Amino acid sequence: MSVALEPLPFPPFRELSNEELNQRIVTAKQRLGKSLLVLGHHYQQDEVIQHADLNGDSYQLSKLAAESADCRSIVFCGVHFMAETADILANRPEKLAVRNGERVGVVLPDMAAGCSMADMAAIRQVESAWRQLGEVIDTDEITPVTYINSAASLKAFCGRHGGIVCTSSNARAVLEWSFAQRKRVFFFPDQHLGRNTSLKMGITNEHMPIWNPHEEEHGGNTQQAIEDSRVILWKGHCSVHQMFQADHVHTFRKKYPGIQILVHPECPQEVNDIADISGSTSKIIETVRKAPAGTKWAIGTELHLVNRLKKEHPEQEIHFLSPLVCMCATMYRIDLAHLCWSLENLVQGTIVNQIVVNDEIATWSLVALERMLAVSK
Ligand code: 13P
Ligand code: SF4
Repeated sequence: MSVALEPLPFPPFRELSNEELNQRIVTAKQRLGKSLLVLGHHYQQDEVIQHADLNGDSYQLSKLAAESADCRSIVFCGVHFMAETADILANRPEKLAVRNGERVGVVLPDMAAGCSMADMAAIRQVESAWRQLGEVIDTDEITPVTYINSAASLKAFCGRHGGIVCTSSNARAVLEWSFAQRKRVFFFPDQHLGRNTSLKMGITNEHMPIWNPHEEEHGGNTQQAIEDSRVILWKGHCSVHQMFQADHVHTFRKKYPGIQILVHPECPQEVNDIADISGSTSKIIETVRKAPAGTKWAIGTELHLVNRLKKEHPEQEIHFLSPLVCMCATMYRIDLAHLCWSLENLVQGTIVNQIVVNDEIATWSLVALERMLAVSK
């Protein structure tokens, strides 16, 4: 049994060169062997992603966490909501039973790696919205759907109220499931993913009121708008993808005839509507992988991923869709120093920055997550 020691102090790691940090990370990983799984989201910087055992988009990473068998610690190079999801899935009751109650320790190397979109919907705001919706329509008619980019408490809310979680890879399948249960959907926190997916299913904007949690009454909507709704969209967005504009698409098309526009569905409708292809980070990667040499792309998603695709596909011409730097500043918090620090602490038996979701929230979140995993198997 390992003995918990005092955490190794963080500051000295800052003074090490990348070469030294890389070496120490490799050594720590070797010592931890199969008991460790380092997961990396596609938006991570290259220097971190090279140490990930597995990388993927939000959906793939949650599946990997759900499937993990041998590992006893997951170091999640991603953001807070991803580590919460990993904790819920890796420590669900049947997994704990197989391990005789032993928990997988999920570590987020830097606690400041949050998600500004997830922060746009707090549980008390969602509960208040639900109560107010109930003053106008029957909430038994609504399936609540939370994007995986949300706090575990929102996933638990969905679990309790017959709802479900979605990712950008399975949003359409999840909405189809939701409409098979009930006639309306309450979608949070990303209005763009909700709107772009619903539009593709033939639902028009006049049936998609926006719920602004900062408005005093009914999210700023008339009773009629709520009665006519099919999808109620939370007024949240990703500050990275929000920056792509229709003008950027027009500029690239003018300058590079034949260029294809490939975007993430977190981009606003004006961009999604005129793009050639829209899809999750995995779909973006797959699309580029399969394209013939000489294909021209302007890609609208996080900068680190687009730069990596450029490096990996010199046979294609890849541009970043925006003239501005659109990078996920919170993902970027995870660096070699934090990774090294968390791994070396694990080697000496100390779990630093552990993410543990409380039992009640984990139980109900799991209900919503399992519905999602069943829908998009
Ligand atoms: P996916 O990983 O589902 O493509 O989502 C992108 C994202 O914003 C992750 O936070
Ligand atoms: Fe959140 Fe956007 Fe960063 Fe994804 S890219 S983690 S949605 S802020």
